[in-house]
Amino acid sequence: MKCVAIKGAKSFEIKEVEEPQKEEGKVLIEVKKTGICGSDLHYFDLGMPIGLVMGHEYAGVVLDNGGREDLKVGDRVTALPLSPCGRCDACLSGNIHYCAETWAHASGLSLDNPGGLEPMLKVRSDMVFKLPEGMSFEEGALVEPTAVGYHAINLADVKVGDSILVVGGGIIGLVSAMFAKKSGASCVVVSETNPKRGKLAVKLGVADKWLNALDKEEMAKNADSFDKVIECCGNTPAVNSSLSLVKRGGTVILVGVSMGPINFNSIDAVMKELHLIGAIAYKYDEFGKCIDMIANKEIEVLKFITKEIGLDGVEDAYKDLLSGTSNEIKILVDPHK
Ligand SMILES: NC(=O)c1ccc[n+]([C@@H]2O[C@H](COP(=O)([O-])OP(=O)(O)OC[C@H]3O[C@@H](n4cnc5c(N)ncnc54)[C@H](O)[C@@H]3O)[C@@H](O)[C@H]2O)c1
Ligand SMILES: [Zn+2]
Ligand SMILES: [Zn+2]
Repeated sequence: MKCVAIKGAKSFEIKEVEEPQKEEGKVLIEVKKTGICGSDLHYFDLGMPIGLVMGHEYAGVVLDNGGREDLKVGDRVTALPLSPCGRCDACLSGNIHYCAETWAHASGLSLDNPGGLEPMLKVRSDMVFKLPEGMSFEEGALVEPTAVGYHAINLADVKVGDSILVVGGGIIGLVSAMFAKKSGASCVVVSETNPKRGKLAVKLGVADKWLNALDKEEMAKNADSFDKVIECCGNTPAVNSSLSLVKRGGTVILVGVSMGPINFNSIDAVMKELHLIGAIAYKYDEFGKCIDMIANKEIEVLKFITKEIGLDGVEDAYKDLLSGTSNEIKILVDPHK
């Protein structure tokens, strides 16, 4: 079968690999749809690790249940990409995202567990969730990024009447904005350096307005304005605008990932007595809750999908998403095409 693997900085190769075989304790899945994630862009940009087959946001069909009795061939599923040890204090307390081992073998994020940029994959059976009747593969592929935003908003503890700024209008920012509104925020604003994405956040109904992060005057006018800020970019200007625009005594949730150090104005955090909280992934239960919310139509996520491509379109799609001027939000890959 064909897969897309990292070849070097900003380059992929499509290569032939052996099909994965069934194995006890692992579910063999035929992948139907795979999302391209903002985190994947960092790996592509740096070209590391060579050979990595990404795609940690996917939905597909069970080919073999690996001994998990409640799953049968043909069931439609998605899965957490995490790989927790199951024995440490973090795992035993339900915080598998704190487990020190959870990323080392994560699906689509490690060399030994290829993700959904190929038509078949194997994943730990305890990480698999069945998709409820009526839920599409597209919705299934969006569960993972939805759960990231859900976790961030849970950490922010958004209250009715809060004013919320989301810095960055990629999928993580948009789902965070969606959950902030759902939690009763009186005003949700998205700041963006890409006007197309800023405008789209308003058009999709997840933000009341957008701020142009490149407009220094507009940003300065909004200093000290928001109860809570969700930072969804992971770069120095974005973190500093978060510290500047949050109110005194406010909370900043850091979701954006940076591969290098960030130079942040710690004086803002000191003088304003800010609460800075990091957010990584989601709890197991939060992932399941997102499946329920999508299935019950409490939230609508299909609107974030702007394009679908096959394996041969993956490199161009990554380059477009990295450009900073892309029209797209969530691009799905059909690995059979
Ligand atoms: N903590 C986690 O668990 C977790 C999970 C998934 C993704 N992430 C990270 O979250 C970030 C967002 O993910 P995504 O998929 O939405 O990525 P994305 O690249 O699609 O979106 C980031 C957006 O930020 C905008 N931006 C850049 N600099 C800005 C600035 N100074 N002010 C305002 N906007 C700015 C970009 O134009 C882009 O639209 C990435 O860093 C990703 O690695 C973290
Ligand atoms: Zn992701
Ligand atoms: Zn553990």
